[in-house]
Amino acid sequence: MTEQDRKFYGKYLPLLIEKEKMLMAEIKTILDSISTNSETALAEHVKSRIKSAESMREKLKMRGFDDTVENGLTNLSDIIGLRIVLHFVGDVYTMLEKIRQSDKWKVVAVKDYIANAKPNGYRSLHIILSIPFECGETDHIETEIQLRTIAMDCWASLEHQLKYKKNITDTELIVSELKRCADEMTSTDLTMQTIRELIQKQENR
Ligand code: GTP
Ligand code: MG
Repeated sequence: MTEQDRKFYGKYLPLLIEKEKMLMAEIKTILDSISTNSETALAEHVKSRIKSAESMREKLKMRGFDDTVENGLTNLSDIIGLRIVLHFVGDVYTMLEKIRQSDKWKVVAVKDYIANAKPNGYRSLHIILSIPFECGETDHIETEIQLRTIAMDCWASLEHQLKYKKNITDTELIVSELKRCADEMTSTDLTMQTIRELIQKQENR
């Protein structure tokens, strides 16, 4: 977090940091409740971040709002963002159910870009939560949790890198090749899930 970010968030920053910690703690509790064994841990990793002032300003302007922190708190759903990277596709839906059951928040929307991938090949499951946030005019804010497999995370991370490269000429080819990679990774994810189920069946015999 830069000095510019601190200035932008001002009096809201301590509560944002507190809520980010609460979210991470609750997610860890849920993950541990599913498996206490690190060998069989559901998550490969969990990350959180508070949106940079620059990115928040950009997004607010794009949506036609003045770029104030208050407008961000009431109009954006990803000032606090969590990303949970899981091993298998099935784990995504196991986590979704557990997240729905928690009393630390209210699930207000689920965007399933796994069942319905974006046209470019992006896949992940996004959950929008409403959490208590008593500060100034606001009493709640929305936050976003992204659930994805290692393969989905790999693709999203590489695509994000490439998107910001300048002077791209072969756009159509690049777009279709990225989409092909996404489809290949989807197929790998499904095979891995099947292999896991085969192994589980043997274990249970
Ligand atoms: P923004 O995309 O954040 O403006 O909000 P939105 O309401 O359109 O939400 P959406 O569900 O489309 O995306 C939210 C977040 O998902 C983004 O900030 C990214 O982290 C991630 N995401 C969505 N689409 C893509 C994509 O095509 N590629 C990559 N790498 N990430 C994406
Ligand atoms: Mg978007």
